[in-house]
This record gives sequence, C-alpha cells and structure tokens, in this order.
Amino acid sequence: MKLFVYHAPELIPHDSLPQCAIAIDVLRATTTIATALHSGAEAIQVFSDIDTLFAESEAFPAEKRIRAGERGGRKVENCDLGNSPLDCTPERVKGKRLFLSTTNGTRCLQSIQKAKTVIVAALVNRQTVVDYLLKQMPENVWLVSSGWEGDYSLEDTICAGAVADGILEQSQISLSDLAGNDELVAALSLYRQWKHQMPDLLAVSSHGQRLLRLQGHKDMAYCSEMDKLQVLPMQKQEGVLAL
Ligand code: MLT
Repeated sequence: MKLFVYHAPELIPHDSLPQCAIAIDVLRATTTIATALHSGAEAIQVFSDIDTLFAESEAFPAEKRIRAGERGGRKVENCDLGNSPLDCTPERVKGKRLFLSTTNGTRCLQSIQKAKTVIVAALVNRQTVVDYLLKQMPENVWLVSSGWEGDYSLEDTICAGAVADGILEQSQISLSDLAGNDELVAALSLYRQWKHQMPDLLAVSSHGQRLLRLQGHKDMAYCSEMDKLQVLPMQKQEGVLAL
C-alpha cells in the first residue's frame, strides 16, 4: 500500500486514479459528514455549486431533506444549516438526507468522485479510516486535503499525517514502503510534532483563525478530537456518501 498526500484538489494527477481516494476537510466539511452519518442521516449528497444543490434537492421530499450550505465559514442564505458538525444532532438529521455545499470540502469530494473507492477522513474518525485501510490494503491511496481555495491547509495535512501514523503504528509496513510522495513524509512529521496539541494547532491555522473570528470555538474544539466516531463515510454513487 502506497499513500500519496495532495495539499489541494487542484494538485491531484489528472491522468490517473487511485484505488482509494480520501477527502479530508477537518475544518469542517468532513467532520460534519462523519458526524451527520453518525447521528443517523440517511446519506450526504455533496455539491460544489449551491444553485445545483437547491435545484436537485427540490425533487426530494421536503420532510426528508436538509439543505446545508457554507461559504467563507458562514451559513448560506435560505439553507437550513451551515456547516457546523455540532448542528448535526440525531434529533435534527436522523433519517434525513443532507444536501451539502461548502467552500472547499465538497469541491474536493467532487474532484475524486471517479476513483474506485471514495471515503472521508477527519480527525474524529481517523482510527476507522486506518482500520479500513489496513483491512483492505488498497494498492494506492490518495489523501486529498481540501485546503483553502487551492492553497495548503495545516489541519488537513495533519490529518493525513495522523492516518499515516496509525498505519505505521499498527502494521509492519515501513515508512519507505508506505510513502508515495514527499508530502506524506512531511505530513507525518507535522502530525508527530503536534499530536498532543491538536486544538492549539487548529487555533493557529488560517482557517482556524477565520472560524474563531466567526465565534466557531466549539466547532474547533470538536473538530480537533481524535478517534471519537466509529464511522466510515463512503461514496455509494457519485456525490452520495453513506455508511
Ligand atoms: C470548506 O469546505 O471549506 C469548509 O468546510 C469551511 C467551513 O465550513 O469551515
């Protein structure tokens, strides 16, 4: 198994596909997706474009849908929810389909949707992702950070490093066998440097700073919790994730 880290969807190769592609958006889309499915949502349908979300969700029974939209960290007008994982309580989402569009995370998922297997990772479900990879042993795996509008993001990189660390700690695989690119080694080093100070790292990241300005303290604390949820969101049809 070889792991490749890409710091933004724009950086993935365009002439190949991996056996398994993993979307990461710790703050906050993939944390929200994992939490909503853990709370019993029927599925999450993702859109990079908010108008397409409104058009497609219109055909779905109103009592079974929730429209969630975020741009720049804020809730999109006329959506039921923004992108806070803490809003995804069982009372709110159980049995419902979440139609979700976010600034970077849903765009990241769309960029990898043609891969054979597409899954979602965040710090909250990191161990479940590690367990899955160790069981399935896909030949090549892309860990794709959502980043921020094409740029690097600290919190997504550290999550990729946390997945790599879990694999190395729980198998006999060596780093040189596991590392598909230099970015993987750098992500692992970043994780090992900060693993006992995850909330601090999120708080210094640029998106963390943005969320703090928007009073997202509770979301930040939640998103920094490692291995909290045993869920593996997986793409069941293009753009639709479920357990
Ligand atoms: C994104 O997709 O960029 C986000 O998840 C941003 C956020 O809601 O914090």
